[in-house]
Amino acid sequence: MSDTTKLDQRPEWTALADHRKSALPRPDLRELFAQDPGRAERYVVRVGDLRIDYSKHLVTDETLALLQELAVATDVFGLRDAMFRGERINITEDRAVLHTALRAPRDAVIEVDGENVVPKVHAVLDKMAHFADRVRSGEWTGHTGRRIKNVVNVGIGGSDLGPAMAYEALRAFTDRSLTVRFVSNVDGADLHEAVRDLDPAETLFVIASKTFTTIETITNATSARTWLLDGLGGDEKAVAKHFVALSTNAQKVADFGIDTANMFEFWDWVGGRYSFDSAIGLSLMIAIGPDRFREMLDGFRIVDEHFRNAEAPANAPLILGLLGVWYGDFLDAQSHAVLPYSHYLSKFTAYLQQLDMESNGKSVDREGNPVQWQTGPVVWGTPGTNGQHAYYQLIHQGTKLIPADFIGFARPVAELSDGLKAQHDLLMANFFAQTQALAFGKTPDEVRAEGVPEELVPHKTFRGNHPTTTVLAAELTPSVLGQLIALYEHKVFVQGAIWNIDSFDQWGVELGKVLAKRVEPALTEGADVPGLDPSTAALVAAYRELKEV
Ligand code: F6P
Repeated sequence: MSDTTKLDQRPEWTALADHRKSALPRPDLRELFAQDPGRAERYVVRVGDLRIDYSKHLVTDETLALLQELAVATDVFGLRDAMFRGERINITEDRAVLHTALRAPRDAVIEVDGENVVPKVHAVLDKMAHFADRVRSGEWTGHTGRRIKNVVNVGIGGSDLGPAMAYEALRAFTDRSLTVRFVSNVDGADLHEAVRDLDPAETLFVIASKTFTTIETITNATSARTWLLDGLGGDEKAVAKHFVALSTNAQKVADFGIDTANMFEFWDWVGGRYSFDSAIGLSLMIAIGPDRFREMLDGFRIVDEHFRNAEAPANAPLILGLLGVWYGDFLDAQSHAVLPYSHYLSKFTAYLQQLDMESNGKSVDREGNPVQWQTGPVVWGTPGTNGQHAYYQLIHQGTKLIPADFIGFARPVAELSDGLKAQHDLLMANFFAQTQALAFGKTPDEVRAEGVPEELVPHKTFRGNHPTTTVLAAELTPSVLGQLIALYEHKVFVQGAIWNIDSFDQWGVELGKVLAKRVEPALTEGADVPGLDPSTAALVAAYRELKEV
């Protein structure tokens, strides 16, 4: 951005702050709908198969116009275009940010340092498809000639959350004869539980790590190799048939002992949390097959094109991003709930946590100055109906403002029995009822009219006015999943652009890694750790004492 005016000194920011004050107390959803019932139709944007309803938000046409002016002033679309062009917008790592190239059509031209990267992307996709087909058909066999029946993805963060989430989301599209598991935690229990009932002769390990230096992944991969070799009589040659790598780092892959012919490459312009539609998706591709994987990429592309071309008032990622800025910066919301009404999306919010919180959990701007405004929210949530019987109480009647996204589908997956399909309307009745209750609540008079004793009226009153977005699609298909993920990727982008932060680095994860390396010898060998603070030193001593018992 060439204009270096601080965000909170921009007239567009001040205008929003004034607008917020003039609308005190918060705009009331009952009133807003009474005055303007047309907002139910007007505040809807359609992208691909997604119908995104933002009518139940604490905004008016004026709020939305002011937010859009802020987007213009902060040149969100300028940064967007720079991203799509392959400019090095990840300034602290001096890298391009081109996850959108991972789903570009074969004939697209996207250059990084003068080289068109699209042919490389498709060469890897083709190599993945060839390999996935061989595993799925049984042509690729293990060291003893047995068919591969189990796939274990070993990775963490962006090298785990995406494929693990998508595998759950698309289970109905998977080859059910394959067992696919995901190991991420350096707690040995994770690998233990993942392999304890598997036969090494039938097991393929997919080692996923952009850097191939991440300690959790390399430790688990090393243990997996030991497990495999122990089970197959110790012949080192077995590794070539049972280990493949997904990485940007060929040297480290070779050092680990994996043949680089069995490596699926990606590039430094793909951020870890944006990498799931790169080679990092191999386990998913083996599970659902290359055609379904490509359908998913097409879904991503639909939203990419929309984000790139739709005018501001109809641009879904822009609208969702701006709403988040409104709540976080002007209405003091600290968190954002994502509540899918689909069992298959049980890992979706965990995936979004990394996408959003690792991207926008920053407190200095792109020039390195402390920001004087709120940045990324705490993202949380689990599938909706389960949440209703756990934490929805706080959303309905607590003291906090928690904007929430409700994601639901009109049809259950095809393979459910008729009886189970019939449950879908009940699921979705909850979906619609919750956003209605959150928005419109129940007044004290309505409670009294039900004959509730006066002393219980305050307890049974629902203030309402809790904002929600409703995302509705016909069915959870690979394409729809791609559309949903791209929607959130670009929403996160919009917010980072407005807050003037680098959404593509993650320096905040480094210190813990360094300190863990320093502390480890104190735990294993009782070594003296110079410079350990008194609190941590006492904890380490207690740990060692307990360990000896
Ligand atoms: O620790 C954070 C992080 O760097 C994430 O950004 C990344 O997705 C994860 O670790 C895993 O990194 P890698 O793929 O290099 O093993």
